[in-house]
Amino acid sequence: MSEVIWGLATSHVPSIGAAMDRGMTADPVWAPLFEGYRPAREWLAEHTPDVAILVYNDHANGVDLDVVPTFAIGTAERYRVADEGFGRRPVPDVVGDPEFSFHLLQNLMDEGFDLTVFSELDVDHGFTVPLSVWTPEPGDAWPCPVIPIMVNVIRYPQPTAARCYALGQALGRAIAGYGGARTVGILGTGGMSHQLAGARAGFINPTFDHMFLDAIEKEPQKLAALSREDYIRQAGSEGIELIMWLVMRGAMNAEVRKVHSAYHVPASNTAAGLALFDNRTTRPS
Ligand code: DHB
Ligand code: FE
Repeated sequence: MSEVIWGLATSHVPSIGAAMDRGMTADPVWAPLFEGYRPAREWLAEHTPDVAILVYNDHANGVDLDVVPTFAIGTAERYRVADEGFGRRPVPDVVGDPEFSFHLLQNLMDEGFDLTVFSELDVDHGFTVPLSVWTPEPGDAWPCPVIPIMVNVIRYPQPTAARCYALGQALGRAIAGYGGARTVGILGTGGMSHQLAGARAGFINPTFDHMFLDAIEKEPQKLAALSREDYIRQAGSEGIELIMWLVMRGAMNAEVRKVHSAYHVPASNTAAGLALFDNRTTRPS
């Protein structure tokens, strides 16, 4: 049996990574956002898992836009940091865990989730910024191996929120069935409300975001029942990234303990949110 010990949901705005890479986190414009991360980072530094699973979307950096898998998993030994046009971020490449990846792949397939398989993959800001939110100073390596699970949120029609939640539930069963008593951290990334182009560019909806932050903890089924059009209408065309938080939540217990949450508007053009949940049924006293 292996166990999900925590779930971390976080936005992946590229400028959050750029602010860190350029030493700007104490600047007045950035300090409130990074202050909001602090309690979560402190807790996470004390709870390093054996392996992490990071649910994210590529933004046509690691994968060509002509081929966009609905759901995919990485099975590589290592994942390179993608060059998104400004050079690679100065952060470590990602060490994978092929054996655990293949276990998850096979179990998810057996449950009817036919994932695309990446045996080679460069990971973009959708992946590296959440890692930096978790671990601001990784040094030469991230704290543990990380397995990418990719979700299409960039080309219509995206998978439904309900399907993402069901994928998370199947993922939770697959994790539990992995021998070796591994501890697992799971990250759900993207969001919160934002729209980067079109007539509603700059759209942010704090009312929806606060509802979402509350419901992801207590009523994820309510969020799973929303249509993709609901997400786009209420959270913006890129706000639909939030469906990836439901994969994380589905892999966790029905009841979780919120460790910390934070909300900041805006980071670049986006409402930045963070939520950290403890998933351990028995907590050390
Ligand atoms: C921004 C947000 C995103 O989710 C993204 O992928 C790229 C840019 C932004 O707000 O700048
Ligand atoms: Fe994005």
